[in-house]
Amino acid sequence: MKDDYRIERRTACAALLGVGASALLAEQSQAESKSATAQSRMSLKFKNSDFYSSDGKFDEAAAKAAYFKLMKVADAPVSEYVRENLWVTDFALGRFTEVGIGGVFWVNDKKWNYASVDIFLLPNQMIPEHWHIALESEGVAPKMESWIVRYGTSYTYGEGKPTPKLGVKIHDREANFITAKKETVLDVGDVTGLLKPLEKHWQQAGPEGAIITEVSTYHTGDAVRFTNPDIKF
Ligand SMILES: [Fe+2]
Repeated sequence: MKDDYRIERRTACAALLGVGASALLAEQSQAESKSATAQSRMSLKFKNSDFYSSDGKFDEAAAKAAYFKLMKVADAPVSEYVRENLWVTDFALGRFTEVGIGGVFWVNDKKWNYASVDIFLLPNQMIPEHWHIALESEGVAPKMESWIVRYGTSYTYGEGKPTPKLGVKIHDREANFITAKKETVLDVGDVTGLLKPLEKHWQQAGPEGAIITEVSTYHTGDAVRFTNPDIKF
């Protein structure tokens, strides 16, 4: 309701003041939005050392705090459920600002084979390349996934004709492990997903970070395989 009121008031003012004023308001609104974006980026600047103790141990609390900051910047709801269920990982690589993820599962139902998770990525943070195998003895089919971006931009990659010039710079130490280079750029509200079971895929957030809702079949970490053999998940 508050937003509607703001839009109505702005339109009414523009009508009163004429077309020139309307252009002025649009310009002002653009400038405000640019300045807000710049401020957001400033507050989401992290060093890798922010997330590790002196003996190199991954500091999960620091990682969670960074994602809560992202949620605040994105104006995303932080309910008690989100606070209690946020999980984080650096994939045991020790480079959380480059490779890492936060998530909150809303549902993950093995019996009826469906799941949904909100994914959080810090600026330029990457979910490394992976694919999902079947676990036949457990009756688990290869996971299928779809994504809608709620905040920021996510550059998603899958199999197929490689995109000639990627929208992100792949972090140096992951570059050798990337095989899927067909790019789909997702801004807020954009949707894509896996095209077939077992498809290799990865994502990387743009400079503002990203919040993504994934809807999928059942998820289990036991069925995830990574192209980087050093990863533990
Ligand atoms: Fe996946």
